[in-house]
Amino acid sequence: MKGDPFKPAARVAGQRQDVWSIVNEAAAASDKPIVNMGQGFFGYNPPPFVIDAAKGALDRVECNQYSPTKGRPRLKKALADAYSPFFGRTLNPDTEVTITTGANEGMLSAFMGFLEQGDEVIVFEPFFDQYVSNIEMPGGKVVYVPLQPPTEGAQRKTSASEWTLDIKAFEDAITDKTRMIVLNSPHNPVGKVFTKEELQAIGDICVKHNIIILSDEVYDRLYYVPFTRIATLSPEIAKLTLTVGSGGKNFYATGWRVGWLIGPEHLIKYVSAAHTRICYSSVSPLQEATAIAFEEADKHNFWEESKKEMKGKMDRFNEIWKELDIPFSDPEGGYFVLVNLGRVQIPKDYDFPPHVANRPRDFKLCWFFIKELGIAAIPPTEFYTDEHAHAVEDWLRFAVCKENAVLEDAKERLRGLKKYLK
Ligand SMILES: Cc1ncc(COP(=O)(O)O)c(C=O)c1O
Repeated sequence: MKGDPFKPAARVAGQRQDVWSIVNEAAAASDKPIVNMGQGFFGYNPPPFVIDAAKGALDRVECNQYSPTKGRPRLKKALADAYSPFFGRTLNPDTEVTITTGANEGMLSAFMGFLEQGDEVIVFEPFFDQYVSNIEMPGGKVVYVPLQPPTEGAQRKTSASEWTLDIKAFEDAITDKTRMIVLNSPHNPVGKVFTKEELQAIGDICVKHNIIILSDEVYDRLYYVPFTRIATLSPEIAKLTLTVGSGGKNFYATGWRVGWLIGPEHLIKYVSAAHTRICYSSVSPLQEATAIAFEEADKHNFWEESKKEMKGKMDRFNEIWKELDIPFSDPEGGYFVLVNLGRVQIPKDYDFPPHVANRPRDFKLCWFFIKELGIAAIPPTEFYTDEHAHAVEDWLRFAVCKENAVLEDAKERLRGLKKYLK
């Protein structure tokens, strides 16, 4: 007897409802329109030169057919040209760059390419939630090391730099099964940009123990303090590092699903090998459009403008926390802000559905914000293991990559919090 023929595999069965469906369902079921600052998608289009590139690509026969598995030569060249100055050497587009279906599939391919059953991967908490399943699907085991939240995060405005890594705890977590670590800078959801010194310390430990560094740098164009790429710190570190990028994040087109990995040939070739088996090749016209976007970005002063615009949105939105005297963690990069809502008093008899009632306080805050204020944010305990989740149960994460009018609407709704503040 085989048992239930429809029983899903454990890797997709998931014990509890994921945060995105809780938030999106609650928002959809609400009787008033919701301002959705939860998921990190843009509320506006890529700039015209990028949209035009996509439209033009669709008219070309070769852009509507399979691309080479490692990516279109034009995009690999555009990336090598764009990133060589950052890396301080000339990148070889044929051997050191590979194109993937978004950064996410790129990271899955990296884990597929290097992990054997039982191999360990160190991930810092809080983490972008996809890392975990991407590591576990090929049989890897995630080992968590928490970033410590600012000690005074509930009392005053803090800086994302105050989320700190205990470097000894990191080294102590390494075993003879550790194959890889995942680093994320600028960081989601914290907004931390790891300093050169922090990266050097992490990189040196990886060199000492021969551990591959998967450096998720999808927010690499959005930094408000100096930004260092770990691959540039020494040739020994570069030899172990795969740098991850995302056309979706760079050009406000998260639905395009164009990403890439940059690294030495001895790493990239196995990422490409896995990618070939997972999706063969990635979306052709949007690869071409991303290539053109990179070629033309400087002419439009796009990178400077994009950073200035996002920092403007961040500051515009965060004015509300100053107004309400609510502490937040000022991001050093990216487009997420973490806000400490310890002062918000949810009425004692407030009615939560069971799937929210049994989750930490940030899920309740999230539900309460949707129902009472009409604004959706993300509960960050979702980015922690249960063991360490309590550290962030008073915080919510807001994505500011929205139109200014939407940010103003959100601020107006948040003024409704005043009557719930203690
Ligand atoms: C830290 C981080 N890495 C990777 C991704 C995924 O990027 P992509 O959309 O290119 O797969 C995200 C998306 O939110 C992210 O926040």
